[in-house]
Amino acid sequence: MANRRKSSSHGSGGGAVVDPFGTKQAVSSLRKGGRLPVYVAGVFFAMFVIIMYGEDIRSLTMESIGRAASTPQGLTGRDVARVVPPQREVLSADKAAALPLDVDERPKQVAPTEAVAPAAKDPPEVVEISRPNKPKTEKTRRPLPAQKTVVPAAGLLNVPETCDLSKGEWVFDNTSYPLYREEECQFLTVQVTCMKNGRRDDTYQKWRWQPKDCSMPSFDAKLFMERLRGKRFMFVGDSLNRNQWESMVCLVQSALSPGKKYVTWEGQSVVFHAVEYNATVEFYWAPFLVESNSDDPKIHSIQHRIIKADSIAAHAEHWRGVDYLVFNTYIWWMNTRDMKVMRPGGQSWEEHDEVVRIEAYRKVLTTWARWVNENVDPARTSVFFMSISPLHISPEVWGNPGGIRCAKETTPLLNWDGPIWLGTDWDMFHAANNVSRTAAPRVPITFVDVTNMSERRKDGHTSVHTIRQGQVLTPEQQADPGTYADCIHWCLPGVPDIWNLILYTRIMSRPHNWYISFISKLN
Ligand SMILES: *[C@@H]1O[C@H](CO)[C@@H](O)[C@H](O)[C@H]1NC(C)=O
Ligand SMILES: *[C@@H]1O[C@H](CO)[C@@H](O)[C@H](O)[C@H]1NC(C)=O
Ligand SMILES: *[C@@H]1O[C@H](CO)[C@@H](O)[C@H](O)[C@H]1NC(C)=O
Ligand SMILES: *[C@@H]1O[C@H](CO)[C@@H](O)[C@H](O)[C@H]1NC(C)=O
Repeated sequence: MANRRKSSSHGSGGGAVVDPFGTKQAVSSLRKGGRLPVYVAGVFFAMFVIIMYGEDIRSLTMESIGRAASTPQGLTGRDVARVVPPQREVLSADKAAALPLDVDERPKQVAPTEAVAPAAKDPPEVVEISRPNKPKTEKTRRPLPAQKTVVPAAGLLNVPETCDLSKGEWVFDNTSYPLYREEECQFLTVQVTCMKNGRRDDTYQKWRWQPKDCSMPSFDAKLFMERLRGKRFMFVGDSLNRNQWESMVCLVQSALSPGKKYVTWEGQSVVFHAVEYNATVEFYWAPFLVESNSDDPKIHSIQHRIIKADSIAAHAEHWRGVDYLVFNTYIWWMNTRDMKVMRPGGQSWEEHDEVVRIEAYRKVLTTWARWVNENVDPARTSVFFMSISPLHISPEVWGNPGGIRCAKETTPLLNWDGPIWLGTDWDMFHAANNVSRTAAPRVPITFVDVTNMSERRKDGHTSVHTIRQGQVLTPEQQADPGTYADCIHWCLPGVPDIWNLILYTRIMSRPHNWYISFISKLN
């Protein structure tokens, strides 16, 4: 534990080089954003910002909401591979995050073809209506194939709350997976379409998660959209939650008719509209959940990120009245050992203190949980917190000393006993779990543990089959994974589909009046 922290600030040192492309984008996005009415003022301001922040300014286009836009050159993959022994992982938040999109990457809003309904192959394997927390008596020792049974009228699944979906194993399943096909989901951004970007092996798409003590249902898009009818479903957080948002959109979109589904962008939000259901699946960019100087999805400082640990209202106004809220925050914390926290009552970003990461993280999560507790109507809104999405940048820790980051990994870690020292900060994991459970007594928050299962998916990242500064990596860049592999984000279809399947399982296993029964159990 102690070791892990020692080198954690290593990566923050080197400045990123400003590329002309980024500069240009900064200017144009200022204009688009209407922040300053006059073009000249926009240019002036952009120049000012660039001078202020020196090398680490990066910009994001509207489309890139959710991506930090930087690649700290001081922390190249090579450095990481060279200097990092297992327990001293260096995490480089932004590096991966670095993938601004171009305008032409905006997913097309017109459906080209709706020939296939990829999800919902099998009806959920459910027969009875469950009460939450019903004690599970029979234990399934061995993985079960998905069973085909009839959905009850109520459309409820019977996976009990007590079944720990985080414990289990990855099972190769090329009949039910992938849950949708890459080329059939027009809402995927180029960042995650790994096959289209040149990946050869597609085995990473074909792994089913088999929990130890129960079975996960198949994803039924129509059933889920019925549950979402007239509702808003929102992911809030960083680019990993955006990754998961894309997955969710692809999972549900097969239930919708062509022309009745589209994506809109506004400020810090991306919204998928399911017209026939009057429902939305949204993503809201707030990489620290609380307010920070990184909140502009287009322009933000990477190296000089500063948070206001007590201030969340400006973001949270956008979360009011949403029916399903799925939060996360992690990767942006991993750039430096300490976090810059603005002093209470501070008038400018300059007035800040350096706070040990875990303490700042606890403080921020407490601020978040307090907001949830005081503002969420638990009878209406379900709240989830996604656990850490792990990075795979040190192949020696999974027994592949000749590897280069996650590049060329084509299978999950199977039959691996004990921990994998990927550098996941388990203190932060436990802090989030604890806060979710205890800090909002009025509102049940479901902590969704995807960390351990995802740690075994070294094969699932976008690696070199992605974009950088809006462009698909060139063959030369793809040949240099030590510098260019993104081992933070995930290919789609892929691992985030499973995370969403867990959300789906929880949501669909709870009756509409779940909260009422939850409360009555407390009394
Ligand atoms: C599934 O995988 C098995 C074993 O690799 C292979 O024999 C079979 O052809 C595959 N089926 C499909 C539909 O790809
Ligand atoms: C559509 O859903 C919104 C909530 O997202 C609700 O306020 C509105 O009344 C719904 N409209 C219709 C026509 O059902
Ligand atoms: C992760 O999963 C493996 C395999 O099931 C298990 O041995 C290990 O204890 C788990 N680790 C954590 C931190 O849950
Ligand atoms: C868990 O959270 C509660 C409330 O936020 C706090 O009082 C307690 O000390 C925490 N426990 C641990 C083990 O972190």
